[in-house]
Amino acid sequence: MPGPNRARGKAAVLRNAECVGCHRDVAASWLSSRHASAFTNSAYQSAAAREPSAFCNGCHAPEATQALAPTPSEAALGVGCVSCHVAADETILAAAHASPTMGATKAPVDVKPEKKGPHEVLRSPQFAASGACAGCHEFRFPQETRSGDEAFMQTTVREHARSPASERACASCHMQPRDGLRSHSFLEVRDAVWVRSYLKASADQRPDGTVRITIAQTYPGHGFPTGDLFRSVEIGAALRKDGKELARDVSVLTRHWGLAAASSTRPLLGDTRLFYEPLEIDLTPRPGPLPNGATLEWWVTLQRVATIGGHPTLTSPAEASIESELPLWRETVKPTNQ
Ligand code: HEC
Ligand code: HEC
Ligand code: HEC
Ligand code: HEC
Ligand code: HEC
Repeated sequence: MPGPNRARGKAAVLRNAECVGCHRDVAASWLSSRHASAFTNSAYQSAAAREPSAFCNGCHAPEATQALAPTPSEAALGVGCVSCHVAADETILAAAHASPTMGATKAPVDVKPEKKGPHEVLRSPQFAASGACAGCHEFRFPQETRSGDEAFMQTTVREHARSPASERACASCHMQPRDGLRSHSFLEVRDAVWVRSYLKASADQRPDGTVRITIAQTYPGHGFPTGDLFRSVEIGAALRKDGKELARDVSVLTRHWGLAAASSTRPLLGDTRLFYEPLEIDLTPRPGPLPNGATLEWWVTLQRVATIGGHPTLTSPAEASIESELPLWRETVKPTNQ
């Protein structure tokens, strides 16, 4: 099954250009994915600059032979077709017609017509289930050996195994067919309409000034949020009057980490994420009845947090350094008792 540290170097880059040459439609969608830019994207580049380690490149440039210094073509390849589809023990020799310079970019190779036709590729029941993803989407902190969740930087695979969708492949949600072919862009997770279609959220205003926000996953495949250790969901409520915000209260769904030296285990202080049962979150921007003419607004925002800096528990989300945000809801609370 696919995983980190494939270390097949140039041969992998060359063979990938062949896949791209024949499978142009799949390749176009792969090229738009974060897999194809796993090493080159700016979020990764700035994180790796903060914490340079060969360990990181094992997944972000899995075909690199020298993990700390991938060649430009290994770096540009990122997680390639070959990283997922060509098994570790399979011969990966590129075709003889590939020129030595080919593959320095992701440009396709023209494959001779007589070679066109079906071929052997990795196809097993395990690959069609979560096996195609598990090797990279769950892993421990370096040097960790414990098996509890606290030892893991990412836990998406075990979250999936505990979810009501455990029998469904990751690909059944993440690679839905477009024009008859499975999508390889994995970009839905950055599309608010798609993400919202798996969630429901509502807000009630109480007489004492509290806003109760109820949020649930309608068809959970894992926790929300999942993935990178700093992914967070901000749930907030604010009291507004005459266009001004008077007060706010915020709660964060995330794994709360303590501080640690670079690349060693961070203590897991708590996990407030949304799993398989609805969560009710009470926020009180200001206690007491709503002042005349004031309104209450509530929101739910998925945040891709770059680092939590010096703030061990992320109880002050304003202090986190946020890479990008995906606003999911922002609405005025409808009073329930007026
Ligand atoms: C010479 C052209 C050619 C090259 C090179 C090529 N393929 Fe294919 N591939 C095909 C054709 C033709 C089919 C069958 C029709 C289809 O599914 O598009 C196919 C089918 C597939 C399938 C589906 C198999 C199935 O049973 O449905 C996968 C997965 C695949 N290729 C992956 C790859 C990967 C990964 C590479 C690079 C290592 C690659 N291909 C290189 C032509 C090619
Ligand atoms: C060889 C390792 C590897 C394999 C195998 C792999 N991934 Fe990934 N995946 C990554 C890396 C690394 C990233 C982060 C790329 C980046 O820097 O943004 C990623 C990113 C993603 C993202 C995008 C998250 C975002 O921030 O937009 C999704 C969704 C995803 N993978 C799903 C899958 C699924 C589903 C599978 C199995 C079909 C899979 N991956 C297989 C390494 C892998
Ligand atoms: C039932 C549908 C479903 C299944 C099954 C599923 N996911 Fe997801 N996944 C989602 C939804 C919806 C989101 C967007 C909300 C979120 O971030 O949690 C998502 C988000 C993600 C992200 C993005 C994290 C981020 O914030 O960038 C990754 C990575 C991911 N899934 C990987 C996987 C892997 C790996 C599996 C299998 C082990 C899997 N998913 C199974 C529905 C699913
Ligand atoms: C992150 C892992 C990953 C990467 C990268 C990846 N694939 Fe796939 N691909 C899959 C999975 C998983 C499936 C579905 C397998 C199944 O259901 O049996 C799939 C399915 C396919 C299919 C069959 C399409 C269909 O609709 O059934 C083809 C063809 C294919 N991939 C080619 C490619 C090519 C070419 C590339 C590079 C341009 C590529 N893949 C990159 C994981 C990946
Ligand atoms: C075992 C595989 C693996 C290792 C090792 C790994 N990562 Fe990742 N990384 C992933 C996967 C899978 C994702 C996608 C999850 C998500 O998007 O939430 C990811 C996502 C990220 C992201 C978010 C990228 C984006 O597009 O938003 C950053 C930043 C990152 N990793 C940095 C690092 C750093 C720094 C290290 C080393 C300390 C590291 N990674 C080690 C697999 C790995």
